[in-house]
Amino acid sequence: MSQTHLRPRHDPVRKFRLVSLPDKTCKIFSYLTRICLLLCLIFSISLVLYTTFSPNQNQFWNRLPHPTRTGTKLAPGPPTNISHVLFCIGGSTATWRDRSLYSSIWWVPNVTRGFVWLEKKIISHQTNKNVPAVKVSSPEWTRFKYSSSRSAVRIARIISDSVKLRLPDVRWFVMGDDDTVYYTDNLVSVLSRYDHNQMWYIGGNSESVEQDVIHSYDMAFGGGGFALSYPLAERLVSILDGCLDRYYYFYGSDQRIWACISEIGVPLSRERGFHQFDIRGSAYGLLAAHPLAPLVSLHHLDNLEPLFPNHNRIDSLKSINQAYQVDPPRIFQQTFCHDSKRKWSISIAWGYTVQLYPLLLPANGLQTPEQTFKTWRSWSDGPFTFNTRPTEPDPCKQPVVFMLEQAKEGGVNGSLSSYKRIVHEPGKTCKTTQYAQAMSVQRILVSSLKMEPDYWKKVGLYMPNHPHIHVDGVYIY
Ligand SMILES: *[C@@H]1O[C@H](CO)[C@@H](O)[C@H](O)[C@H]1NC(C)=O
Ligand SMILES: *[C@@H]1O[C@H](CO)[C@@H](O)[C@H](O)[C@H]1NC(C)=O
Ligand SMILES: *[C@@H]1O[C@H](CO)[C@@H](O)[C@H](O)[C@H]1NC(C)=O
Repeated sequence: MSQTHLRPRHDPVRKFRLVSLPDKTCKIFSYLTRICLLLCLIFSISLVLYTTFSPNQNQFWNRLPHPTRTGTKLAPGPPTNISHVLFCIGGSTATWRDRSLYSSIWWVPNVTRGFVWLEKKIISHQTNKNVPAVKVSSPEWTRFKYSSSRSAVRIARIISDSVKLRLPDVRWFVMGDDDTVYYTDNLVSVLSRYDHNQMWYIGGNSESVEQDVIHSYDMAFGGGGFALSYPLAERLVSILDGCLDRYYYFYGSDQRIWACISEIGVPLSRERGFHQFDIRGSAYGLLAAHPLAPLVSLHHLDNLEPLFPNHNRIDSLKSINQAYQVDPPRIFQQTFCHDSKRKWSISIAWGYTVQLYPLLLPANGLQTPEQTFKTWRSWSDGPFTFNTRPTEPDPCKQPVVFMLEQAKEGGVNGSLSSYKRIVHEPGKTCKTTQYAQAMSVQRILVSSLKMEPDYWKKVGLYMPNHPHIHVDGVYIY
């Protein structure tokens, strides 16, 4: 008794068996399992033999639908120029009168094509010819749902209104606000890198991380402007009205457009020259160390300090425009040089400013924008989508600043630009003799060959020391 009682307790198998089966059932189960395995093996081997040697081996696949590439591949036509771009500008009767001044900076009648779309007719503004013509948005926009801004629906539908005009030879629709300033030669260079027969969504996002987090990193922010190729615009317009109600809870028109484009499946192609300018304060630091990319647009200039310390906003833009006309691809391009004898570092943002540091600074420092601005929403010191460096508190380490005076053609295919020292605001100044020497410079002249008009159309060559970007001479007076 005691032996039979003890044995199961030492049997390791029995110990873990939850349901004890009689021995006979076990054997039957084991046979069944082996038979099953054998059948499986036979089936697998015959399947392999069948698919390998069968003459109809494709018959399974042939029954599936075959995806084919649709869409006609057009022959690469003449290169893209400004006539192929249709601007779709979102405005309102309340803002257009003042903001049309920004359009007058870049709009060239009979060259740039497009319209500013308002919610109703205005009579008083027909006199100014150097701005885009006004059109009234088609009235259906009022029937869509919205949560915060009703006009966002109307401005999103500007793309429908524009496509439906069926204007000839449009390759790109460029959407933006009535306070977006474009640099159209550079815009055309950027767009001509892309095949306008394919679907493309091109723009930039916000400088303030908080804005990208709230809206989306994947979205082209509308103020900086963004471009849709013709095929994408057509596709978007075919789904837009159905799509708008789905995203009624979004804040802006640009976010609605992004959400609808993401349903089509086209991602944003980011280009660094589109400037939403979601920053507060002064954009100086950012523009003095512009990324190595063509300047495409500026925005939010009403919310920023004037770009030149002793000009108003519009006059500042006119000065920049004067240099831009001389050498469009070069505007704001940064180059720097060192004078090892005097221990100076000089940073040039062509057509805008020259900074003279009376100390030797490495290239990576000069290329990092000085943070002369705050974030858009919370007015904080960052984060931004790029690195910044704080303004140097020691006046002896601050640069002596020169601002563009004028730019003109010079020599064969060359340009000359001059930059005048700005008078420092009273405050802490550096008293060293080295700084005094730097402060005695009144003017800096920069001579350079004009950049090739096609320079930014090529991809992957961009270096500040590239002979086409580098300036030839810096003359100190
Ligand atoms: C742009 O190219 C087209 C050809 O596609 C041409 O007809 C037109 O004149 C060009 N426009 C400009 C401003 O060069
Ligand atoms: C633009 O073209 C139209 C018609 O071709 C012409 O009447 C008008 O004077 C032109 N405007 C300018 C500013 O050149
Ligand atoms: C000036 O530019 C034109 C057009 O880009 C070019 O054909 C010519 O060779 C250039 N001349 C010199 C001296 O660089």
